[in-house]
Amino acid sequence: MSDVYPVPDRVRIGTNNPITSMDTYRSAAAHAQNDPDQFWLDETRRNVVWRTPPTLGVSGNFRNIVDSPITWFADGTLNITESCVDRHAAEHPNKVAIVWESDTPGEGYNITYKELHQQVCQAANALSGMGLKKGERAIIYMGMVPEAAIAMLACARIGAVHSVVFGGFSAEAIRDRVRDCGAEIVITQDQGLRGTKAIPLKNIADQALQGESSVKQVLVVQRTGGDVTWVDGRDVWWHDAVGNASTEHTAVECAAEDPLFILYTSGSTGKPKGLVHTCGGYITYTQYTHRTVFDLRDDDVYACVADVGWITGHSYIVYGPLANGATTVMFESVPTFPDAGRYWDLVERHKVTIFYTAPTAIRALAAQGDAFVTKYDRSSLRVLGTVGEPINPDAWEWYYNVVGERRCNIVDTWWQTETGGIAIAPIAPATPTKPGSATLPMPGILPVLLDTDGERITGPGEGRLCIDHPWPGLARTVWGDHDRYGAVYFTTFRGYYFTGDGCRRDADGYYWITGRVDDVINVSGHRMGTAEFESALVSDESVAEAGVVGYPHPIKGQGVYAYIVLQPGVTGSEALAKELNLTLRRLIGAHARVDLYQFVPGLPKTRSGKVMRRILRKVAEGEPEKLGDISTLADPSVVEAIVAGCKL
Ligand code: PRX
Repeated sequence: MSDVYPVPDRVRIGTNNPITSMDTYRSAAAHAQNDPDQFWLDETRRNVVWRTPPTLGVSGNFRNIVDSPITWFADGTLNITESCVDRHAAEHPNKVAIVWESDTPGEGYNITYKELHQQVCQAANALSGMGLKKGERAIIYMGMVPEAAIAMLACARIGAVHSVVFGGFSAEAIRDRVRDCGAEIVITQDQGLRGTKAIPLKNIADQALQGESSVKQVLVVQRTGGDVTWVDGRDVWWHDAVGNASTEHTAVECAAEDPLFILYTSGSTGKPKGLVHTCGGYITYTQYTHRTVFDLRDDDVYACVADVGWITGHSYIVYGPLANGATTVMFESVPTFPDAGRYWDLVERHKVTIFYTAPTAIRALAAQGDAFVTKYDRSSLRVLGTVGEPINPDAWEWYYNVVGERRCNIVDTWWQTETGGIAIAPIAPATPTKPGSATLPMPGILPVLLDTDGERITGPGEGRLCIDHPWPGLARTVWGDHDRYGAVYFTTFRGYYFTGDGCRRDADGYYWITGRVDDVINVSGHRMGTAEFESALVSDESVAEAGVVGYPHPIKGQGVYAYIVLQPGVTGSEALAKELNLTLRRLIGAHARVDLYQFVPGLPKTRSGKVMRRILRKVAEGEPEKLGDISTLADPSVVEAIVAGCKL
């Protein structure tokens, strides 16, 4: 039986959360399960600004997603920026909306709700002036500057659909996304800054756009003043176009189910999919989960140190917190600049009350010793969140004992790009925690564990994690390919949304995520498809075949292990391994690198030619004795060579 941690007093007292105890949690969960329409209609009518308040709840179902797509609140109309900006600018204009923590500590600034309103209106006017219309797409390729959030909101305000591409992605990756969504406009900045390192975002965007005629204009924020390539007639400085625009703008009315954004994410096969989130359901779900899980209070300073390039940044830096009128921090730098105390320095300077990061950062910082933490005053902290990958109990304990001094509740939040918002997590003032468990589902989320035959597991057990009923935050489709959406998420187990994760449920009904059961790997909280690595690697002329798997890594959670079959006459070497990593960087991005290469004579294949990935995984995991049945292999000697071989 694992340890149970009660909710610390500091977290329990003074809350006005609708869920304050396990009893109120159970009754909210029962209400959401028994009458989901009423539960979510009540929630959205109370906390979201609608032009036409909806009367309809959910329609569609998981049994036939292709013919009967999911919708929520389908007869409502709104513009989500009225929830995120206008009402707060009217009610508390001088409250800080965004605390910008710049790369160099102390050089950032704050933006109030009134200022945010003005700047979003200006950017909306500028984008309209550049010809961007409702329903058209804009790619945002930026670092963590306030203009990134303003650009997202400005697109939403005119009903345009943004697709943020993480600032580490390569020109090739941007081009793929520009083409897939047919973007009209790209919004970028001259350079990004991370730990004094300049990232030439504009120049990378220019490479991506060579020959792409769909993109008519590029809007460029000046961050560093560094040199940039410039295309006259296409490129426009933000300070010219936005700075000179009117601060008044009437938001465009959107249907609840109009797309709000597309976010590309990796899966088991093929190129990344553009998941589509829609206006009404997404904003309802993110504001609800943000407010309840973190137990948001009026004077909180909330810091999620993720990047807006990922779903965490969308839902829990920008949309959820702003919809709740919170003060949200945007962190431009890295956790180790100028040293490993940066997060706690940030907490002390801004008196952060809620802090949200990834287990990989916690593990990396714990390895640097406690002095970097204890040097700073963390007495403002009340809730500490984690997201992105399973957190090991040691890292959890360090976060709880050292960072939070046993006064804060830890909320280990399990969710996905597809779920839109947090799906399984403690509710800070209510849920007793267990180190390593995401604990219990949000009201409205009905997790189901299935065995490999698709049979439901009841009570304690371990299986594939699925979800049984639609919730408002669920991504509605894959951009331009609804069949793929159906095939990826709803065919493995008919009638259920399949998450791709394995999971255990204990005797208390607590959920313990065990990691992906498909060919997706999670490196430092970054989700990547092994197929993307493999196709990038085989594009190198030295490589005949590549098999890529994850393996346990003490800091990153998972590392990337590549088995490479070379072309005849080529020999494996450290130099070649380096060259292959450069290929990955060029084709995918700076965050995509193989940690261990093994050059092998062949990949283990069945007689029908299918690679037995299980064997690759077991060897990479250091468990060659657990290969299982290899009698169906075409050439068993390949396995001997793999087991005996060495890695670089
Ligand atoms: O495997 C799960 C893992 O991250 C995957 C989703 O990745 P992505 O769509 O990039 O979203 C990350 C941020 C929400 C999941 O399928 N994951 C996410 N959070 C947790 C987690 N695994 C265990 N515990 C978590 N708290």
